[in-house]
Amino acid sequence: MPDTSESRHPFLEGLSKHRGSPPTVIVVFGASGDLTARKLIPAIYNLGYDNLLPADFYLVEFSRKSIPDDVFRSMAVDSINQFSRRELDGGVWQSIGERAFYQSGGYDDLEAFNQLRKRIEKIEKDLGRPVQSLFYISTPPSVFKPILENLGKSGLASRHLGEKEASKVIVEKPFGRDLESARVLNDVISRVFQEKQVFRIDHYLGKETVQDLLVQRFANSIFEPLWNRRYVECVQITVAEDLGVGSRGGYYEQSGATRDMIQNHTMQLLSLTAMEPPVSLDPESIRDEKVKLLKAIQPLKLGPEDGDVVRAQYGEGLIGGERVPGYLQEEGIDPESNTETYSALRLSINNWRWEGVPFYLRSGKRMGRRVSEIAIQLKCPPGNLFSASEKFDLAANTIAFQIQPDEGSTVLLNAKIPGLETRTQPVKMHFRYSTTFGSNTPEAYERLILDAMIGDSTLFIRGDETEASWNLISPLNDYWDSIGRRGMESYASGSWGPLESERLLWQNRHQWRRP
Ligand code: NDP
Ligand code: BG6
Repeated sequence: MPDTSESRHPFLEGLSKHRGSPPTVIVVFGASGDLTARKLIPAIYNLGYDNLLPADFYLVEFSRKSIPDDVFRSMAVDSINQFSRRELDGGVWQSIGERAFYQSGGYDDLEAFNQLRKRIEKIEKDLGRPVQSLFYISTPPSVFKPILENLGKSGLASRHLGEKEASKVIVEKPFGRDLESARVLNDVISRVFQEKQVFRIDHYLGKETVQDLLVQRFANSIFEPLWNRRYVECVQITVAEDLGVGSRGGYYEQSGATRDMIQNHTMQLLSLTAMEPPVSLDPESIRDEKVKLLKAIQPLKLGPEDGDVVRAQYGEGLIGGERVPGYLQEEGIDPESNTETYSALRLSINNWRWEGVPFYLRSGKRMGRRVSEIAIQLKCPPGNLFSASEKFDLAANTIAFQIQPDEGSTVLLNAKIPGLETRTQPVKMHFRYSTTFGSNTPEAYERLILDAMIGDSTLFIRGDETEASWNLISPLNDYWDSIGRRGMESYASGSWGPLESERLLWQNRHQWRRP
């Protein structure tokens, strides 16, 4: 008999559980932005395609720019054509588009929020039923606070409290810009919403391969005996992008690679890789282990020579054979900007499992290619039966989880080259999602929007988790802010980051992988 408590769990259940959500209106704040166009609209479209939206579904897009409904709808069609994993199906879009509206207003303008409430009340009146409101805050973090406060003051946050149509809020990352602002946000949230209404999103947790990390680690016995300081030499986590800052200067200049990617996505990958086994798969047990792990990370050494951190900005270079400008030449970027587009950290974890094992994290824009992976490099075997020489080409055994693209995992081993002589060569054992399961799996945002609609918080971040992560990162950002552009390295677009980032590893006789 299946265990019914577990079969209700999102890690174990398919998307079909979401059928039957109450009538819902999703309100997106920051709707004229990059995230809405590239991810949110395509995700909502694909949910509609899979028949996973409630029968009565409405979309209200909200931002400061003034955009007529019909222009917004044709922008939505463009974004589906450009970014959806599936081609546009006119019928599917029509059923969403005819109930999609645009409202312009300031994020600190209470009257605009009162208008929004009236619009939702009108939807309910026409429908003759209550609807749940899911507010999606997709703006730069500097305006999270006024939006949350106005959701409270306008009464939008407390609509249908205690019922299945209760309002919910998804808050994008980075959650604040430092430890202090994260605490302020957690405080505002706790005054305006009940915790079960709140979904702090990190879309990496919605990626299939990130969820698979828990399965790989805890549903197999092959890894656990190796997963500790006795066998692991170092861990490298890379989240590299070939994209530049594009049209997102307004957000990115306030953020930079460390706040944009390291504080959230790479720290989540690190927590899931290094945490202890949770006692069960329920949301709180997993989050408890992640928080314990984050708290065991030692403060970063900050300083120019033997510090644990390196930052850099991309210069001009070639991406896919095309010449691209450097960060300081991009539209909307201050030519004197000290915002980093690349960040690398060396972390130490002070616990029984990981003491002495360096964890290297790096993330950058305009790098050699788009790739995210977690690589566990094992120690070399003892003795010198096969010591590296011309005959013995040897590599350290490495278990690598490819988060994207080309999702899967690889084990790097040394093998004998067939022949009369004993010569060796590193070889790879591969597991590829696309080969085993086929391609076209749901995008992270599809999964996460659905989970929020039904109120399942497993794949979202808890308040103390985000504070534990900021506790590590904030001193670093403060340090960089205090020294201006001093020590800012540069790397050519299309390369693998600045030379200085090799120093972090050379000091321990390690080298970055070329994923
Ligand atoms: P954008 O820079 O595109 O900004 C989104 C919208 O917010 C803009 O269209 C603008 O709307 C408004 N805005 C921009 N700058 C400011 C400002 N200084 N003050 C007030 N409003 C402003 O950002 P993204 O859409 O890329 O990102 C939004 C959020 O989503 C961020 O928190 C980001 O971390 C997160 N995110 C983004 C991803 C992506 O791929 N883009 C992926 C994952 C998360 P208007 O002026 O019309 O009000
Ligand atoms: C977002 C960042 O959180 O993640 C963006 O704000 C980045 O700067 C994006 O481009 C990357 O997401 P993905 O899913 O393409 O790796």
